[in-house]
Amino acid sequence: MKQPSIRRQLMIWVIGALCVCAPVLVLVAYLLALTEIDEVLDDSLRQTAMLLADRDLAGTFPTKPTVGFAPYGDTQSMLVAVARRPDGGLMFSSQPEISLNFAPTPGASIQTANGARWHVFTVVQSDRVIQVAQPVAARREGAAESASQLLLPLLLLIALVGGLLVFALRRGIKPLDDLNAALSQLRETALTPLEAREVPVEMLPLVHTLNDLLRRLEQAFEAQRNFVADAAHELRSPVTALQLQVQLLERCTDQATQAAATAELSAGIARTRHLIEQLLFLSRTAAEDGERNPLPHERVRLDDLARAAVVRLSPQAEQRCIDLGANVALEASVEGDQLQLEILVSNLVDNALRYTPQGGIVDVVVDLVERAPTLRVVDNGAGVPEAERLRVFDRFYRSPHAPALSEIGSGLGLAIVKAIADRHGAVVSLHAGPDGIGLEARVVFPAPG
Ligand SMILES: Nc1ncnc2c1ncn2[C@@H]1O[C@H](COP(=O)(O)OP(=O)(O)OP(=O)(O)O)[C@@H](O)[C@H]1O
Ligand SMILES: [Mg+2]
Repeated sequence: MKQPSIRRQLMIWVIGALCVCAPVLVLVAYLLALTEIDEVLDDSLRQTAMLLADRDLAGTFPTKPTVGFAPYGDTQSMLVAVARRPDGGLMFSSQPEISLNFAPTPGASIQTANGARWHVFTVVQSDRVIQVAQPVAARREGAAESASQLLLPLLLLIALVGGLLVFALRRGIKPLDDLNAALSQLRETALTPLEAREVPVEMLPLVHTLNDLLRRLEQAFEAQRNFVADAAHELRSPVTALQLQVQLLERCTDQATQAAATAELSAGIARTRHLIEQLLFLSRTAAEDGERNPLPHERVRLDDLARAAVVRLSPQAEQRCIDLGANVALEASVEGDQLQLEILVSNLVDNALRYTPQGGIVDVVVDLVERAPTLRVVDNGAGVPEAERLRVFDRFYRSPHAPALSEIGSGLGLAIVKAIADRHGAVVSLHAGPDGIGLEARVVFPAPG
């Protein structure tokens, strides 16, 4: 299909409109000229007939027939005069070579004689009928001739308008070309907004939208750059630690220290692996956008997820002598991605277990708050100071108040929880636990519509 073009469209419409209007204009000019000619020549017929009626024809008419005068210098527009006696006998004809038998209708009439139509003006007197006539065709020709004089100026006008249009369109479309040039010069590293000062008003919305897009792109690139930089930075520490542990292992001489160093090394590898997995998951979840990659519309039982997480993480809880339980009295289902929601619950329970001292209590509660399915993970650990309860959702942010035992953390768990909650339209927040002790992580899902 041919690419649509504003320039071509405008040319087609304007030149097309002119080409349609030009014949209409000529037709109107023709009709106006015909009316005008009719008026003038009807009057002229009447005056000529009256003039003849006043005369003594025997004395004034020439003995030799004469041709009538031609008002436009055109022999076809001649006037013909005929005089007849009341019994119809011809007294006089200015065109004796053609037989013109007009009916003696007084005044102006249109009649057919000698195979042609005539405008006739008749004066009936007691002793004679005087008629002055003119062919209808003669008047039409006169009108057509005067209208046709418009044709050339009109054609010139169309050519002139076409030329001006090409010029005006070139000038009018130039801002688009300029915009295109400005856009093509942008680099992803420098997405400066487009200059809107000299842009025509019609293009302002486009420029504003593009600038808005550029701003969001810049932010996205910035976020991407930060993410990569942060990730590289965060990966460096565990890898350096691994290197040190390997060196340590190499230097070990006795079996006992070697075993300890090996255990350290494998814990370090586990930590690095955990970090890489979290990073990968976060970059994938944060990059997914709702339109191109919509969430599956499956119903996920939040209560089942909570129970499963408790079962899954029980060994970890037992190891740390933490009383981990699920308080799930009712069915609560949400719409979304089962795997992502599992990760959300796991991350919250994992935090609670990790940051609660031995002998603590962790409860996973699912209920409906004003019909909204709500998940709460409550612990009686150290909690997060109120001032930090928003910051802990930032990537790589780890509270300086966190207990030392939590060193395996990478500071990505809550960022992942937030990314998943956002994708599910849920709101995640941190609160102080019961009686101000510990932490309550709360995720409120949208109430079913
Ligand atoms: N239940 C909790 N009690 C006390 N502090 C918490 C709790 N949950 C999170 N935090 C604090 O919030 C910080 C960020 O948690 P987040 O889950 O994002 O990262 P992480 O646990 O350090 O690492 P990751 O989850 O990636 O392994 C933690 O480092 C910790 O300081
Ligand atoms: Mg965590």
